[in-house]
Amino acid sequence: MDLSIVVNGMTFPNPFLLGSGPPGTNAHVNAKSYDAGWGGAVAKTISLESAKVVNVVPRYGKLRSKTSGEVIGFENIELISDRPIDVWLEEFRQIKKEYPKHMLIASIMEEYEKGRWQELTRMVQDTGVDAFELNFSCPHGMTERKMGSEMGEHPDLCEQVTSWVTEVSNIPVWAKMTPNITNIKEPSLAAVRGGAAGISAINTILSVIGVDLNTLRPMPTVEGHTVPGGYSSQAVRPIALRMVSQLALGLPQDVSISGIGGIENSHDAIEFLLLGSSTVQICTGVMLHGVKMIDELKEGLEKFMTDKGFNSVQEVVGKSLGYFSTHMDLVQKMKAAKRSKAGEASRDNEWGQKDITEKTAELTSN
Ligand SMILES: Cc1cc2nc3c(=O)[nH]c(=O)nc-3n(C[C@H](O)[C@H](O)[C@H](O)COP(=O)(O)O)c2cc1C
Repeated sequence: MDLSIVVNGMTFPNPFLLGSGPPGTNAHVNAKSYDAGWGGAVAKTISLESAKVVNVVPRYGKLRSKTSGEVIGFENIELISDRPIDVWLEEFRQIKKEYPKHMLIASIMEEYEKGRWQELTRMVQDTGVDAFELNFSCPHGMTERKMGSEMGEHPDLCEQVTSWVTEVSNIPVWAKMTPNITNIKEPSLAAVRGGAAGISAINTILSVIGVDLNTLRPMPTVEGHTVPGGYSSQAVRPIALRMVSQLALGLPQDVSISGIGGIENSHDAIEFLLLGSSTVQICTGVMLHGVKMIDELKEGLEKFMTDKGFNSVQEVVGKSLGYFSTHMDLVQKMKAAKRSKAGEASRDNEWGQKDITEKTAELTSN
């Protein structure tokens, strides 16, 4: 089955992309993922001066299910790429030469200076990459240099920086937004005013993964200390789905959305498509399960489309958005369906009559 989709003029062989991070950290891993069947990749974020980027070890922390041990949440305090720009430029050229039909998106980040953003844009564009993703969203480390989410939290900066990039770029520009903000629509709309053709959401959520009760040290612990980091993996998916749906309902129709956050299989990915994403990106899932997870992603999407009678991925995009409403409207709809008694029969007074866990189960939909 044809899983391709055209987004901002780019043809993706399928909607599954590696998210920016370790899965796209050099040309070798990128090529491996294309060979495995991924439709595209957003490379690890790069900047002009990699010497300023110094990572720490350890830099990851896991939240596990108390019963199965499965990883459900993941924190990182990793920075952007520490590899020199010249090496990256050479690798971008090489990847595009070897894989012309796979989409390669360069993620870029710089300090708040027009000259620096435009220099980086020009250099990277010359390599033949297909699009840019502006990193307005890394929530730790780079923020101490006023980069990443320090920009994404301020709509005026998002608009200005995006316009600097679009002024010199002749390929599509996506802006990757931070969830560490009250209303993700505001900086996203600002980036669109600056010329962004697409929005990627979400980057990681600021978090502290836990505290070691023996040493009393918060984790991940580096020489006894830590900083809050970015939270990803399954646990963030409902928040990402909410933000993606808000964007899909609130942005101009022609702005594309690349959905990100906690995707581990085709079921999760389809949810993002249904809520308005035309591509999806996966980072932590690939780190935990490997690039081969693409097989299940493709098979699962194909099966879903066959079962539900969809002829193209584009037809799936946004299909569930029409089912969002207001609370008042839900009450009206229950009345119209003559089910208002169900609501009245479960008023708050009732909670004492049954065990609280039983009552919770009774009111839960899945
Ligand atoms: C270890 C790690 C490194 C990351 N590095 C970057 C980065 O360089 N640039 C970027 O835009 N996002 C980066 N991210 C964020 C991911 O691309 C993604 O937005 C986020 O983790 C949520 O998706 P996921 O649950 O599929 O990982 C990183 C995430 C992780 C876990």
